[in-house]
Amino acid sequence: MSYVRREAFLPFTRPMVGQEEIAEIIDSIESGWITTGPKAARFEEELQAYNGVPHCLVMNSATTAQEITMQCLDLQPGDEVITTALTWVSTLSTILLQGGVPVLVDIDPVTLNLDPAGLEAAITSRTRGIIPVHLTGLPAPMDEIWRIAAAHGLWVVEDAAQAMGAHYRGRKIGADPRSVFTVYSFHPNKNMTTGEGGGIAFHDDAFESRIKRLRFHGIERDAWKRFAKEGSPHFDVTEPARKANFMDLQAAMGLHQIKKLDGFNARRGVLFNRYLELMKDMEEVVLPIPGDDVHQHCFHLFVLRIRPEKAGMDRDTFVARLKDENIGTGIHYRPAHVHSFYRDFYEKRPDALPKGGLPHTEWSGDRLLSLPLWPGLTEDDQDQVVAAIRKVLSH
Ligand SMILES: Cc1ncc(COP(=O)(O)O)c(C=O)c1O
Repeated sequence: MSYVRREAFLPFTRPMVGQEEIAEIIDSIESGWITTGPKAARFEEELQAYNGVPHCLVMNSATTAQEITMQCLDLQPGDEVITTALTWVSTLSTILLQGGVPVLVDIDPVTLNLDPAGLEAAITSRTRGIIPVHLTGLPAPMDEIWRIAAAHGLWVVEDAAQAMGAHYRGRKIGADPRSVFTVYSFHPNKNMTTGEGGGIAFHDDAFESRIKRLRFHGIERDAWKRFAKEGSPHFDVTEPARKANFMDLQAAMGLHQIKKLDGFNARRGVLFNRYLELMKDMEEVVLPIPGDDVHQHCFHLFVLRIRPEKAGMDRDTFVARLKDENIGTGIHYRPAHVHSFYRDFYEKRPDALPKGGLPHTEWSGDRLLSLPLWPGLTEDDQDQVVAAIRKVLSH
């Protein structure tokens, strides 16, 4: 069949918001209660039930959620936290904003996730914890991470921004109490969305009131009950904090998105595996892996890596040529340590990088791109993506 260029641009992702979400948002507006209220509380209950966790509190983004976890863990200036550079910069910036030092280890080039082989060498007397990222929705190798963390008295916080609906050894990400906190994102690109939004899953009851304070002005809602009748306008502020509450308008979307999530992820899985099948003979690219029984993917992203020596072009040229064919792609991510702030930071703190640098992170970071993937993508769309790739590679 001869190649036909797409008429309309195909974005790399698109949120799947339907009539149910729209009706629920209208219901909130008409009720007169649009900010944090009963729907936000119900959404938290739904998240707890879905993820099999005793607590899940929501706020305006995963970035805020990560910052709050660092505050709850009382990260002190100079404390070190080990993580990966192949992530969104918020994984690192939220450590730095608390005065901590993000210490980087290399990735496993097969999974793109933090390689536990680098952990022992990165641990010092200042190390407090480890933040693995479940990049693309493929769970990180948690057993090895938890084992090393326990052996050195470190906490583990999981960056599950991309992993709602993924499982590790048959349990939802966040369900295992060996991680003190797990952070989810509901940004529009994610597998389920609330417009913007993030959540923190945790197991220890002791964190509940602190997280509630840290997301809303440091207000101790329960303190006043000791002194006043229910419904009193008085409350107490017990520490300075941000305003990062989650609106009922957002929860209106979330309440329906979470019901649809397993269906969305199943469809993503079908498309992910179909991409693998359609491109299995392509020598110019490295294909992602679909996970296995232990690391059960939620198929957030289909990240392939181009081999410039075989393709005859680098990643950015490939991306630009696909755009000329009306195919959108994403880059997840340009490694954090190559951004100018972090370049300067690690020049001053070479001890926060492995001795041999981050060769696998850099190799993949220079070559990766995300192909269009969302539940509403059709097989025809997908055939056009692959046909465009073949066309671009044949020139
Ligand atoms: C791995 C990772 N961590 C954190 C975030 C931050 O999420 P949010 O946009 O909800 O703050 C993202 C979002 O892109 C992400 O992909």
